[in-house]
Amino acid sequence: MTQEDWIEDDREEKVDLRLWRKLLQYTLHYRKTAIAFTIVAFGMASTDLCFPILTGKLIAEVEELGAKTDVAFYGWGFGVLTVCLCANIWGFIACAGKIRTHVSHDIRRDAFSRLQDLSFSFYDTKPVGWLMARLTSDCNRLSNILAWGVMDLIWGSTLMVGISLAMLIYNWKLALTVLAVVPLLFAVSVFFRKRILRTSRLVRKTNSRITAVYNEGIVGVRTSKVFVRQAENLRDFDQLTDEMLDHSVRNAILSAVYLPVVLTLSSVAIASALVMGGREVIFGTVVIGEVVMFMYYAQLFFAPIQDLSAWFAELQMAQASAERVLSLVEAIPDVRDTEAVRERLAKSGTDGHPDAIGQIEFRNVGFRYHTGPQIIEGLSFVVEPGQTIALVGATGGGKSTLVNLLCRFYEPTEGQILIDGIDYTDRSLRWFQSHLGIVLQQPHLFSGTIRDNIRYGDLEATPQQIEDAARLAGAHEFITAMTQGYDTPVGEGGNQLSLGQKQLVSFARAVLKRPRLLVMDEATSSIDTETEQLIQAGLARVLSGRTSFVIAHRLSTIRAADRILVIEKGRIIEQGTHRELLSSRGHYHDLYTEQSMRDIVRIDNVM
Ligand SMILES: Nc1ncnc2c1ncn2[C@@H]1O[C@H](COP(=O)(O)OP(=O)(O)OP(=O)(O)O)[C@@H](O)[C@H]1O
Ligand SMILES: [Mg+2]
Repeated sequence: MTQEDWIEDDREEKVDLRLWRKLLQYTLHYRKTAIAFTIVAFGMASTDLCFPILTGKLIAEVEELGAKTDVAFYGWGFGVLTVCLCANIWGFIACAGKIRTHVSHDIRRDAFSRLQDLSFSFYDTKPVGWLMARLTSDCNRLSNILAWGVMDLIWGSTLMVGISLAMLIYNWKLALTVLAVVPLLFAVSVFFRKRILRTSRLVRKTNSRITAVYNEGIVGVRTSKVFVRQAENLRDFDQLTDEMLDHSVRNAILSAVYLPVVLTLSSVAIASALVMGGREVIFGTVVIGEVVMFMYYAQLFFAPIQDLSAWFAELQMAQASAERVLSLVEAIPDVRDTEAVRERLAKSGTDGHPDAIGQIEFRNVGFRYHTGPQIIEGLSFVVEPGQTIALVGATGGGKSTLVNLLCRFYEPTEGQILIDGIDYTDRSLRWFQSHLGIVLQQPHLFSGTIRDNIRYGDLEATPQQIEDAARLAGAHEFITAMTQGYDTPVGEGGNQLSLGQKQLVSFARAVLKRPRLLVMDEATSSIDTETEQLIQAGLARVLSGRTSFVIAHRLSTIRAADRILVIEKGRIIEQGTHRELLSSRGHYHDLYTEQSMRDIVRIDNVM
């Protein structure tokens, strides 16, 4: 998906009822409010309908009885109607507001909880900006339609149908005069709405592009400065804002013309009713009160038309939002428990296999990301419990991918990964991953304090246990050197710490979890040699008796591993212990001597 595609993929579409029916379920979930909401909308339309009748009657009576008219009765009547109207308006706003807030919350909750479940493969294709837009603007838009739009629809259509019926019953000739303008009004609305829709879509599209430029500009401000790109960036930006201005002005002009046209047409209808009605009054076939009532009705009749046509346009525009949000809410994770495992979990609470992670076997494992090239091919090896396996090899060789497969972030596209002889897809995903300790190549910390971030490994841990884990990970020294110690805030994504410090904290977090299987992807790549030695000592203790996979570019860190796998182009090209590999004088030997030479040269240069 290109950036252009995801920024704004609104299309002009026919309204897909199936989609909206699904979304309407969110509103119907609040059954009581939805019922109150419908009653209020009906109530409001009915009160609106009563005013003209009362006015008409009052005028007719004044005409007939003059000063003897019971004005107080009508005064009370209007008073009661006004109170009803106020109560209905209050109910209208309260119900719609409540539903809007709940629906928006529910859609967001469902989407967010799905996002937590979805596999890594989902995130490979969906940019963060796209997901954020779904959770914010799309959800807002949909909840607005589902509350205010539905409310206006019920109120507006009830009012229009009610008025048409009332007018037809009272005087069908006058009624037809007023209604004659409806088809024309409809045609005009369609004409303008189409154009307004098109321009407002262009405005939004340009707006999204401006936001994207903002985003890139802010995130990449350092790079821009270094490459002195500010002037070019500003020029690109100016071009976009000019475009935005152009579309916005066109949109404003169209909207400005549409409104007077609707007003003119409705005035023509009212005027013809007045002329016809006036003539009938002169001929004495109709009383004046009735004509006034008609005028009143005619005016009311046109009130909801603009609202309804605006909602209809919004519905068309929001169609894409609805599709995207539903696709998110209904997305099925690629990696999830199989049907059989889910059944067993539901029945007995476990996946039916022993609660142990012993021998791990890769059997002919092959893998490709989506439809991409083959990254891992025919990989087979066995790891005995408690062994430390080191993975080394050139950049892009597939080490992180192998580890991703092991952690079941992705599943092999060919072959099997077995735990104690059982295919790991036949085991509970949650169970398996809860026994994993992972330090990723790009560690992520959550905003909060250092302590919070370490505690993430075990929410029940005592401060002492947290400190012990930090000591073991070699993080204690740098933490206590900070003025706020363990209470130092790490900033968004841990950005207030250096990369090496982030690695240490995420290492401590993994240690605190006391995992059965520990995976470290370049965990010590950004750490100085002194701290690294500190970690080495801790690592030896952490790794003892625990199966672990360690990826390292710095080969000195993995000398003690039980077995070293040299990976290239997704295959194991060599394996053995450090000694064995050195003595066989193959690829590893070359890598190792090359690195050692470099280190010696570096030390010489420093001295
Ligand atoms: N999410 C992904 N989607 C598609 N291709 C990917 C993805 N992640 C990695 N690749 C591709 O898979 C190949 C192996 O990547 P991997 O990250 O496993 O290498 P690595 O051995 O860990 O490299 P390094 O030593 O630089 O960390 C690369 O060619 C990369 O382009
Ligand atoms: Mg990697």
